Amino acid sequence: MLDLTGKVAFVAGAGSVAEGWGNGRATAVLLARRGAKVFGTDFSGEALAGTGTIMEQEGHKHWAGRVADMTASDKVKQAVDECLERFGRIDILVNNIGGSAPGDPVSMSVEDWDGQMDRNLKTSFLGCKHVLPVMERQFEEEGKGGAIVNVSSIGSMTFHVGGRVHVAYAASKAGLEAFSRATAIAYVRKGIRVNTVVVGMMHTPLVGHRLTKQLDAGADDLVAKRNAMIPMGRMGDAWDVANAVVFLSSDEAGYITATQLVVDGGVTAARPGVIEAPSA
Ligand SMILES: NC(=O)c1ccc[n+]([C@@H]2O[C@H](COP(=O)([O-])OP(=O)(O)OC[C@H]3O[C@@H](n4cnc5c(N)ncnc54)[C@H](O)[C@@H]3O)[C@@H](O)[C@H]2O)c1
Repeated sequence: MLDLTGKVAFVAGAGSVAEGWGNGRATAVLLARRGAKVFGTDFSGEALAGTGTIMEQEGHKHWAGRVADMTASDKVKQAVDECLERFGRIDILVNNIGGSAPGDPVSMSVEDWDGQMDRNLKTSFLGCKHVLPVMERQFEEEGKGGAIVNVSSIGSMTFHVGGRVHVAYAASKAGLEAFSRATAIAYVRKGIRVNTVVVGMMHTPLVGHRLTKQLDAGADDLVAKRNAMIPMGRMGDAWDVANAVVFLSSDEAGYITATQLVVDGGVTAARPGVIEAPSA
């Protein structure tokens, strides 16, 4: 079993958009179950408190949360400083914040475009901006840098013909993957690994909460439709994402950097439909 005892993890977006297990909440709790001390941020106090309650119920004493908007550099810096005051170091950074807004280049407002870039890309940039110097110092002083995992989406890779369009989400998540690889190589000699988990269609509270509104669909219908689109026949869940993030954060992934781990039940590799060859 992956053992993270003695490590400190900073999880950006450690709440969940609604009650239940979002990717960030599951990741924060799984990191704690593996022995890490966990510092979580979220701009929703309620979402963060929900994660705090679970930490308490499970008996994880080394948990701290701070309400912070991770698109604001000064707030990110304050949160990083508070984590250092509380736990003394940062070994793991998880940049989990993200979410899609629909629109093509014509229909999307400039404000929505900028909002998508801020939410999906800038939050990871700012997390790295303020945590990388901490990890670099740890590497210089004790030979231990850290591991960064950014959370992306298969929405950067595949697109539905005639379906929902979300150009800014696609561009910002594709940007996040390039940002991760470039940062990984910039820090490859400094004991810091940077990887991306590329998330498929997961059954998280986000589906019921946001997508049903965006798509004007019933939750049961939407779940059935999403399940049917996946080669494995079902959506994944937040634990599938959390397991991948925790693996990439662990020493067992010590030779893995600048890569993407796709967690999607086979979606991105599959071709739509099967065309039978005519019999001779
Ligand atoms: N759920 C899916 O099906 C799915 C699919 C592909 C990718 N993803 C990716 O997974 C990641 C998170 O998924 P989730 O299920 O945890 O979503 P979530 O919305 O439940 O959790 C994200 C948390 O981030 C917080 N947050 C949002 N903006 C913030 C900001 N500026 N500052 C601080 N906190 C902020 C929210 O309050 C929320 O609690 C995202 O990057 C998303 O793009 C999810």
